[in-house]
Amino acid sequence: MKATAKAHTNIALIKYWGKRNEQLILPTNNSLSLTLDGFYTETTVHFRSDLAQDIFYLNDTVVTGEAYNRVTHFLNLVREQFGHKKLYADVRSVNAVPTAAGFASSASGFAALASASVKALGADVENDELSRLTRRGSGSACRSIYGGFVEWEKGTKEDGSDSFAVPIAPADHWDVRVAAAVLNPTEKKVSSRAGMKRTVDTSLFYQGWLDGIPQDLADIKAGIADRDFEKVGSIAEANCLRMHATTLGANPPFTYWNYLTMQVMETVRELREQGIPAYFTIDAGPNVKVLYLPENEARVEHALRELSGVNDVILSRAGGPVTYQN
Ligand code: DP6
Repeated sequence: MKATAKAHTNIALIKYWGKRNEQLILPTNNSLSLTLDGFYTETTVHFRSDLAQDIFYLNDTVVTGEAYNRVTHFLNLVREQFGHKKLYADVRSVNAVPTAAGFASSASGFAALASASVKALGADVENDELSRLTRRGSGSACRSIYGGFVEWEKGTKEDGSDSFAVPIAPADHWDVRVAAAVLNPTEKKVSSRAGMKRTVDTSLFYQGWLDGIPQDLADIKAGIADRDFEKVGSIAEANCLRMHATTLGANPPFTYWNYLTMQVMETVRELREQGIPAYFTIDAGPNVKVLYLPENEARVEHALRELSGVNDVILSRAGGPVTYQN
């Protein structure tokens, strides 16, 4: 009862920001992402009859505390759903993502964990069911089941049965690339989970965020279909700015940005002024991801590496769906 799965992380072009049900992880808005080949998690799950509890290793280090609790809580859901209530698991994950620095390691992490667990139990599930299950670990993870451009349908049902990701276009539809400027590899201060809750509960700007979503989604999907880079990039950048604006309207107010974040944003704007189409997006951390087309890779990478506060630049293409090793 052992299986290994590899899942890539994804970068949201239209952000998931806010839950309507925290326990079931049901979002207030649809979101849309691009799966990235450069960032992934590979996880082996081994259900063993000799274990008295789950064990979880991340990059060869045993994990305890909150991160362990999230994994074991998720495994309880898997055991419940697939009728193996007494089997505990040995979970070994390797992350090719800077953990908790706004690189959505939870997305690839839970997508790999869900896929490997289900496979280890020998269950045969469709992708929409796998995505629905993965959502319970971390919302953004439900999009990482698929490659390329993916939309998470928020659904309207209270039990969450219609809230899962659907593929929009596979990775080979369009060679859009992403440069991740790594600014600060430390643990972030406000988790995405806590940040979105505070925003939903208190931000005066939250309704404005929700009001913009339907138009953004319709426009970006048309842009993806037409491979219209400036359209897709400018919508993604504006959507990111609106998401981050909601945190400033929260009580107490907060931001994920630091001065280096803003420096990278400025550099991207300067690239555009020089005629290079590049657009930024930022998740719940200080790091900035830059969207660009292959012909501009060298210019984009060079401009980012020139900045003294940028520790590293990781280049990525569109990534594929979850894969299995055995
Ligand atoms: C800003 O998926 O990490 O990256 O569902 O509480 O685990 P939970 O949150 P998470 O939130 C991701 C938020 C985001 C935007 C996005 O990926 O869509």
